[in-house]
Amino acid sequence: MSWKNDQVSEKETKRILELAQKCLSVSGDYVEMGCYKGDTSLLLADIIRNVGKKLWIYDSFEGLPEKSEADESVLGINFKGGELLVTKREVKQRFLKAGLPVPVIKKAWFSDLTLEDLPGQIAFAFLDGDFYESIRDSIKLVAPKMSEDGVMIVHDYTNPALPGVKKAVDEWRQGKYSRFEVVLL
Ligand SMILES: C[S@@+](CC[C@H](N)C(=O)[O-])C[C@H]1O[C@@H](n2cnc3c(N)ncnc32)[C@H](O)[C@@H]1O
Repeated sequence: MSWKNDQVSEKETKRILELAQKCLSVSGDYVEMGCYKGDTSLLLADIIRNVGKKLWIYDSFEGLPEKSEADESVLGINFKGGELLVTKREVKQRFLKAGLPVPVIKKAWFSDLTLEDLPGQIAFAFLDGDFYESIRDSIKLVAPKMSEDGVMIVHDYTNPALPGVKKAVDEWRQGKYSRFEVVLL
């Protein structure tokens, strides 16, 4: 499987895959909030094939939403509403072409999802929605379903072009202990 991805660096991908491997022994399914073209999703699907776990991936498939004030940054000028648009069909086709099991693919704005749209239990989650509200809403859906010993990764926490990510995570954590591991990339 190739790690080629224009959204996640090779180093970050390696770390994501190490953590995904580690979670194979944790009960629950795998989730990606903001799958875009499915580059990371394909790698995750490969890791969990034949272990009885399912991959659930979520995206608007309409590109990024509009930014909120919390996302404003001179460095992030290229992250705009409507950017990063792919269709659900294109993503599904990539799994079929790669001979991998097609994940549960949900097309929705994260703010329109409810807990019922997520698996009952989550072993591993990769949150990659770029913006404040997207990360805030993803955490709201994923955190209550995380297994103890599971891993929730939030991408772009340290990315100065996407300051809303850090704000959403920090507001949620507020120095609280969490039952599961939180990895900030
Ligand atoms: C950086 S890309 C994801 C890259 C992908 N995780 C990967 O590893 O290749 C961000 C994706 O999140 C989706 N997204 C961002 N905010 C969203 C929201 N509030 N609801 C639904 N999708 C959202 C965008 O449509 C986009 O496809």
